[in-house]
Order: sequence, then C-alpha cells, then structure tokens
Amino acid sequence: MCGIIGYIGSNVASQILTEGLKRLEYRGYDSVGIAVLDNSSLEIRKDIGMVDEVSTALQFTNVNGHIGLGHTRWATHGSVCRENSHPHFDSSKKIVAAHNGVIENFSKLRDDLLSKGHKFVSDTDSELIPHLIEEHAKDSNLLKAFIKSVLEIQGSYAIVALSSADSEERLFLARKNSPLIIGVGQGEMFCASDISAMLKHTKTFVPLEEGDIAILTKTGYKVYSVDGSEVQRKQITVDWNEDIAQKGGYSHFMLKEIHDQKHFINESLATDVTEAKKLIGEYEKIHVLGCGTSYHAGLILAHLLPDKNIHAFIASDYPFVAKPDEKTLIIAISQSGETADILQALRFAKNSSKIAITNTVESTITRICDITVYLNSGPEIGVAATKTFTSQLAVIFKLAREKPVGLSAIIEKMIEKENEIKAIAAKLAGSEHAFFLARGLNVPIANEGSLKFKEITYIHSEAYPGGELKHGTLSLITDGTPIIALAPKDETVIKLLGNIKEAKARGGLIISLTNDDNVKEESDFVIGLPDIEVSLYPFALIVPLQLLAYHVSVLRGINPDRPRNLAKSVTVE
Ligand code: AGP
Repeated sequence: MCGIIGYIGSNVASQILTEGLKRLEYRGYDSVGIAVLDNSSLEIRKDIGMVDEVSTALQFTNVNGHIGLGHTRWATHGSVCRENSHPHFDSSKKIVAAHNGVIENFSKLRDDLLSKGHKFVSDTDSELIPHLIEEHAKDSNLLKAFIKSVLEIQGSYAIVALSSADSEERLFLARKNSPLIIGVGQGEMFCASDISAMLKHTKTFVPLEEGDIAILTKTGYKVYSVDGSEVQRKQITVDWNEDIAQKGGYSHFMLKEIHDQKHFINESLATDVTEAKKLIGEYEKIHVLGCGTSYHAGLILAHLLPDKNIHAFIASDYPFVAKPDEKTLIIAISQSGETADILQALRFAKNSSKIAITNTVESTITRICDITVYLNSGPEIGVAATKTFTSQLAVIFKLAREKPVGLSAIIEKMIEKENEIKAIAAKLAGSEHAFFLARGLNVPIANEGSLKFKEITYIHSEAYPGGELKHGTLSLITDGTPIIALAPKDETVIKLLGNIKEAKARGGLIISLTNDDNVKEESDFVIGLPDIEVSLYPFALIVPLQLLAYHVSVLRGINPDRPRNLAKSVTVE
C-alpha cells in the first residue's frame, strides 16, 4: 500500500522521482506527490489522480534540485483529496515526509502536538511525522530528532524525510512492517518501496530490516538501529533487466505478465525446494496460509498432500480459527512477502516452524520464516496476480509431488486461444453476474478465475463446487446468466456435467473450458483444453480465465492494471 521513493545525487531529482513513481503506482494510485529541495527552497507538488495525469498537470519535472522524495498513495487514513496526499510539511515548512503504513497511536501523538501549537492541514496519520521531527529538533540534532520521532510511532511505517534546515544534504529513512530498500548508485543514492522503481539506475540494493533507521547522502548510506548505533546490512545484487518492469509493447502489464508465464514457469520450476521438502516430510500437521490469490494456491497445496493433516487458511482469519503449536508446520504463501495479514498470522504462530513461498527477495516474510522458496517470476506490476499464481502452482507441485513437465507448452497452447477468448469476452462484457463452477482440484482455480474476473471487470462473480449450485445459488440463474464451467476430462467431469445441465435448464449461458464431448454439446461457447496428464489441468485452466478477465475488463473501459480501490501489496490489516 503506497509507494515511496527518495533520491539524492547530481541528477534532476524530480525526473528520477516521477519515473520511479510510475513504477510504484501499482502500490496505490489515489494521489501522488513529490517534494524537492533546491538550495534552501523546499517545494511540494501533489494532487489526486494517477502519476501521468498529476505529474503532467503540475509539471513535476520542471522542479529543480538534486534531492527529493515522492509518494503514491492508497488511502488508509482520511479521504482521497489533495490535502491528504503526500508528502506533508511540518509547521515551519522546512521538513517534509512521506509515509507508507498506519500509525496506531495517531490520536495521542496528534493531541500532544496540537497542545504544543502544531497545526495540521490533513486528516492523515502521516502528517504528524514531520511535526514530530520538528518538535524533537528543537533540542536535538536532526538525526536524533528523527530517531526520537520514529521511536514514538507505534504501528507500521516506511518513512522518507528531509529538511531544508539540515546542515548537510541527507535523506532520513525508517522502516517497520512496510518495505523500504536502499539503491546504491555511483555518486547518487536511491530508496524505494520496491526494487523495480530503481532498476533503471542500479542493480545493487540494501533492504532495510525491521526497525532500521538510515541516512542517505550523495556518496553513501549509514544504517542505525533504534539505539542510534550503526549496523551493517547485507548488500544484494539482482540480475533483473529493466525490461521486465516495462510493458514491452503490450497494452497493459497484466497482458504482458499473462504472456510471460510461458517463460517464467521454467524459472519457477528451477527453484530449490530441497530443504522445504525435507521439512514437509518431517511434519504431519501443516497449516497453509495465504490471502486472495495466494490463498487459492494454498488450497491447491492442501489438495496435493491428502495424506497429511493439512489445512489452508485465509491468513487474516487465522488467529481466530487455528491453534498452531510446535508440532505444526506453517507454509506461508505471498507473492509480495509484505502482506500485513499474513505477517500477523505468522507472528501469531510463534512456536511453529515456517516455510515462506514468495517472489520478493529479502521481503519481510523471508525474515520471519525459517526457510524461503522463491518463485523467481520477476517483478509483477499488474495489480491482479497472474504469473506469480502460475509460479506458485509450479513450486507447490514440485514441493508436494515431482517436478511437473511440459508446463510451458501447455501455457503456450492456451495463450494461442486468445482471439477465441476475446470473442467470448465480448458476450460477457455487459453482464451483471457470472458464476464459475468446478469440482475437486479445479475448485481453487474457479475461485481464482472468479477473483480475477470481479477484481478487474467490476462484474459480480462467485465460484462454487458444482454440487453446491442446487443448494441455493441456482435461484440466481436466469436467462443469459454466464456460467463458466471448468470441465476438463478428469474424475470430476461426469458430475460437473450434471451441474452444467441444471444451470442450462434455467437459462444459463454456458461457457466451458473442456476437452469432453458431452460438455461441449451442452455449451454455448467452448474454450478447448488439450488432453494432458489430469493433475496438470490447473495450469491449462488458469490461463484462459486470466485472459477472459483481462479482455472483459478492457472492453468495459477499465484499466486492468489499476482496478479501483485496490493495491498490489496490501500492507494494512
Ligand atoms: C490478486 O489478484 C490480488 N491482487 C490479491 O488477492 C493478492 O493475491 C493478495 O492481496 C495477496 O497478496 P500476496 O500474494 O502479495 O500476499
């Protein structure tokens, strides 16, 4: 939630910040702003809207100066309006800060500051940060004032701040439960919520750890622990090409990422699962945790290990429904590795061993878990998870069974059906509801297809095991209601055929993903499946569902990369 970026060097800060904010926009896109220091003049430009729109209207790149910070917001505290967008000033307009996270003791801190004469212009919790620094700077140097301020804040934060009254040019950084990474350049330094925002300038990074405080100057960085003592943090180098974080000729990141699956699946299959597999072998009781798409991958994992006492949980609910102990192995799935719901569930399971499955190098989840299995999918920019889901499936199959073969070819075959899928999308674009039906191992794929569909088309959709239809939902099926049936020729197809007939008899418009002749006969539209090893059908099914959601979204005039109200990385509970 929210993207943060900072720059200090010899180049034009506003240009680097604006470019970086475009890369970070997937994290939140309610409003955007930058603050740049030019000699002693500190200027903020910000407004509601997307980065392109606001940066053009307010001419971000005309701001001079070589040090600055920027923010793209996903509102948590206060409505979407200019005043609530970041960065925020202190009272003297000499200190600016941008914040990602939630300040839990906001009311108390704000009341204290109000009693000391500070005036606030926004409803955000974040605005109190520059004021706190200002207050502490009355009797401390700036670094000490920053540390004192950070220590007072309870909750989650990634903070970047700077002051025009500083005796030297510096950016002040802090992180706790929200990602913040330093980018190390030659004579220039960067920081951002995500590596992809800095990839154009450097491949060397220092991920800050929980509770770290750091300062950046033109020539280097220093990291401090909360007691003010300097600490060393690991530098990492990534070999990602900047192209991965570009659309590469596709109209949207989501479409590119769907197409990329045929390549990245092999990278994911190459991931090392040896240690994790060994640990799974040692435990009988396993809890799988995830949210949204990652939860659906977790459901598949639970299906694949039927001999274990295994259960998949929605991470946000985990503390209310489970009792993990030292005999429980936790497998936590999160592409971002920063989802607050999963991190709190992991902290709740404090006595259990933990495996993380994530795409994000050095993310918070990797620090909480004992073993990490990486997805190696490359950065995923579209808010809707696509290639990371397929990668999760590939890794999960490798963990639970043998390494699956032929996946890239299966995915490619399904991508080739894009034009047929687009034609079907045109039939669905005016619908108000859609229902996804499946049975057995295919049910989590129906859940995922339905989530993708509603997330980016704004059409209400639900997924069910086919047998559930007659227990209530059938009353919603009338003439032309779209029924998307996941009906590969496996052990589920005969029963699902019965459910398809029930829906058809009530007027349902049947769109089937199938290689079964009987299902084809009952269907209004068919997306053909190849005849493959039955356990691999999830890989063939998910691709057309992603494409269907994508094309319906575009036909409805929606930007599938930036669906309303959502953000890629959900760092609030
Ligand atoms: C999927 O399209 C969603 N954007 C969302 O459900 C996502 O999968 C969920 O927020 C979990 O994210 P994570 O994998 O980064 O933890």
